[in-house]
Amino acid sequence: MTRARQPTEGAHRVGVDFGTSNCLVAFAGPDGPVAIALEADKPTLPSVVHVPRMPPPAASLVGTPLDAYEAMQRQSLAEALALGAQARFGRAALAAAQDDPDGFFFRSPKSFLAADIDPVHRARFQRIVTLMLARLRECASEAAGESLTQACFGRPVNFGSGIGRDPHQANARALALLQAAARDAGWQEVIFEFEPVAAALDFERSLQRRQVALIVDAGGGTTDCTMALLGPDPHGRSRRARRRDPADDRTEDILASVGDRVGGNDVDTALAFAGLMPALGLGLRERSGLPVPPQPYSDAVDVFSVPAQAAFLRAGPAIAASCRRCDDAVARQVRRLETLRESGQSLWLVTRAESAKLALSERADAEVLVDLERIEPGLRAPVGADRLVRAIEPLRLAVERLIAEALTQAATAPEVVYLTGGSARAAVLQDAVRRLLPGVPVVMGDAFGSVVAGLAMRAERAFGPRPDGQVRPAR
Ligand SMILES: Nc1ncnc2c1ncn2[C@@H]1O[C@H](COP(=O)(O)OP(=O)(O)OP(=O)(O)O)[C@@H](O)[C@H]1O
Ligand SMILES: [Mg+2]
Repeated sequence: MTRARQPTEGAHRVGVDFGTSNCLVAFAGPDGPVAIALEADKPTLPSVVHVPRMPPPAASLVGTPLDAYEAMQRQSLAEALALGAQARFGRAALAAAQDDPDGFFFRSPKSFLAADIDPVHRARFQRIVTLMLARLRECASEAAGESLTQACFGRPVNFGSGIGRDPHQANARALALLQAAARDAGWQEVIFEFEPVAAALDFERSLQRRQVALIVDAGGGTTDCTMALLGPDPHGRSRRARRRDPADDRTEDILASVGDRVGGNDVDTALAFAGLMPALGLGLRERSGLPVPPQPYSDAVDVFSVPAQAAFLRAGPAIAASCRRCDDAVARQVRRLETLRESGQSLWLVTRAESAKLALSERADAEVLVDLERIEPGLRAPVGADRLVRAIEPLRLAVERLIAEALTQAATAPEVVYLTGGSARAAVLQDAVRRLLPGVPVVMGDAFGSVVAGLAMRAERAFGPRPDGQVRPAR
């Protein structure tokens, strides 16, 4: 996919990949999909939002500076925004969170779309998602030189975990929230397409003959597989003419779509638990010989679960009691867990685990030293490649299960496999796919841009191409 230089010719109806880890926006240009720059010249916007707390209005400033500080700490997100707080997104939000750790910080809001949570939390997430979608619309509109209102949004096959549960309710909840947030953000006409189907349409552009393809999209929060009959148009139309034909229904070519709520974020959580938490006392023993209770450690790293985070917030007395049952040397380490709790750095810890994962995925036999300075000056945790292999195991098993399901649903075998999504960069997953389908060629796709490219093409077909003669010339 090419990259747009702003302002952008022909951006009119766009595809929006609202990803768990990264967001992208693209439009269908005359020579193929074009990604819009979302942050500086980068096409990806990490799915991260930071909103600073605001000083209370002058009229209510009675009492000491400490009272004012406490009032800010009690402030809700809605109150901060009402007081004019400016949200930051992506890399800028990550930097803002470093400078201002007291502000509101949200990562991967897509992970919460399907959660069955109370209306107060739900309204809060809707607000965050709205902020992100409004930002994407702002960037896209600026690139197009006009206010954009129509988009094809990607959606995973299943927003929630399908294992042993009915995914329909979770999907309905997630889509309702996404739709409401999109509307609030000014996207007036929105259609949805399965993310792996969009990736399939992008892959199809490179195919010279019709073949059955298995598409595997392993992202930050969800993993999806589609089996599809892809290739040049059987009726001989050009790709562009076919794409623009509203009657060209590809339903019959999509042989199977399956997916589950598992992705790179789960690997990070598992690696934070097994690789970093030992530095905070996990695995040590109390004087009685019993292990230090592991529950607060697993709650702490479960950063995409509202109940787990609430449980960790309440764990102070339990951690203190455990410290009293430990020898001094052990208690000193367990107290680091209390520092983590008090300082609200769980999300940061999991982000440190993600960095270790990225470093280890390039050097399979290595060990990395993870800097945990924010917990204690000089604290470092060694994380070996074997830990990553174990942390990625549930994702590998999920990929294998989803591929088996897709093959059964399609009742045929693939002639080619297309791998996309950031997590598909992990060699362990690529090897697993090759082992499962020996002899089938595996094509590594554009890990981050494939889904949005397909969504842009879908948007063009659904909403029609931009009328000729109305293209805003690039400056
Ligand atoms: N080299 C790598 N090895 C392993 N994982 C990686 C690598 N590079 C990126 N990732 C992981 O890929 C994930 C992000 O991928 P991607 O941007 O495709 O997700 P997304 O589209 O935002 O999420 P989703 O599609 O699930 O909503 C993150 O978990 C990131 O840590
Ligand atoms: Mg994705």
